[in-house]
Amino acid sequence: MIEIGARQEAREIDRAAARDQFDAVRRESEALASRLTPEDQSIQSMPDVSPTKWHLAHTTWFFETFILGRFDPAYRVFDPAFHYLFNSYYEAEGPRHPRPQRGLLSRPSCDDVAAYRDRVGAAVAELIAAAPDQTWAEMAPLIELGLHHEQQHQELILMDIKHVFSLNPLLPAYQPPRRRAPGAAPSLSWGEFAGGLQEIGHGGPGFAFDNETPRHRVWLDPFRLASRPVTCGEFAEFIAADGYAQPEFWLSEGWAIVQQQGWEAPLYWRADGDSWRIFTLSGERCLDPVEPVVHVSFYEADAYAKWAGKRLPTEAEWEVAAAGVPLWGNLGDSRRHHPDAETAGGDGLRQMIGDVWEWTASPYTPYPRFRAAAGAIGEYNGKFMSNQMVLRGGAAVTPGGHIRASYRNFFPPSARWAFSGLRLAEDA
Ligand SMILES: [Fe+2]
Repeated sequence: MIEIGARQEAREIDRAAARDQFDAVRRESEALASRLTPEDQSIQSMPDVSPTKWHLAHTTWFFETFILGRFDPAYRVFDPAFHYLFNSYYEAEGPRHPRPQRGLLSRPSCDDVAAYRDRVGAAVAELIAAAPDQTWAEMAPLIELGLHHEQQHQELILMDIKHVFSLNPLLPAYQPPRRRAPGAAPSLSWGEFAGGLQEIGHGGPGFAFDNETPRHRVWLDPFRLASRPVTCGEFAEFIAADGYAQPEFWLSEGWAIVQQQGWEAPLYWRADGDSWRIFTLSGERCLDPVEPVVHVSFYEADAYAKWAGKRLPTEAEWEVAAAGVPLWGNLGDSRRHHPDAETAGGDGLRQMIGDVWEWTASPYTPYPRFRAAAGAIGEYNGKFMSNQMVLRGGAAVTPGGHIRASYRNFFPPSARWAFSGLRLAEDA
């Protein structure tokens, strides 16, 4: 049995369902890319960003390497050079093309990558149908991991092309503008939680990444959680109050970056006289004060919370509060690809799932008794557990069906190109 980065359990994965899921996820990646020209798909705007074409090839490399290479003795690799070009970070799989230079890969072409996807996709589909039962039992969890991996890259495709387009003076729109209903300022209320001895982490049926396990006990003091994320209008008040110029609100590293980078507002905000414009995947437009603020770093989220006299929730507080919240919201399958204003109001927590990933006060560290699997797949999550902070809840670019209350996203505290926002908490 090959050890995998996802949580292993003895459960049957139906072949027909796996095949349907495989086809659906692979098609979705291609649909996201279909709005882009080959030129769009080749650009890398910063080391963190990868070209769309690279995402399409790398997710295919994952299936070629970890499924076909291990379980299909008859499979012949599509192109031996692709192992070097499209391995992302797996040391156990050997040397790889430097990440900051992915944008130099004018070859292979988009057509070559499409042919690679077709060939690997057909071979995986054939293997799903024909593998002996023992082989299927071993490879099925890896196919499931490969599909969740590809969904993570679907979100990256949208994050990355937004950054690429934002640096083009033409400010291209990935998708047409969306007519939005004018909203009133949503009311803010506070959910009360008693805390005490609680459990977090994935423990039920279904897929989870290894970093969501084991489920374990935590102790929480009583806390309150805001009913919705912080809005653009609220964040603009922080800016207007000179929040970016007052070191008392900032962590030392964040303050240093504010000075070095000249940060004065979230990423993709542009001052236009007395007002703000923001760049979205539907092009640039006026800031909507009632929609959640997005593209703030952990440092900005933390500074805002301090200025507001509150704090960020810990990931355990967030997860305990999210227990029982329905796993739907403004996710990628809404195709809006931008956070929505909360208009429903009323009691209860809103927008926990979807709209914006919510920074937490928690560093990304292993849960008690966590052990990464051996081998390349063990590198999936475990080796990144330093110098990053946890975000929860998914965003408007996260594929539907790819989010759980226990899901732990993570980024360095200075990162702003993810769809990251915040929700306030306070001690009760
Ligand atoms: Fe990857």
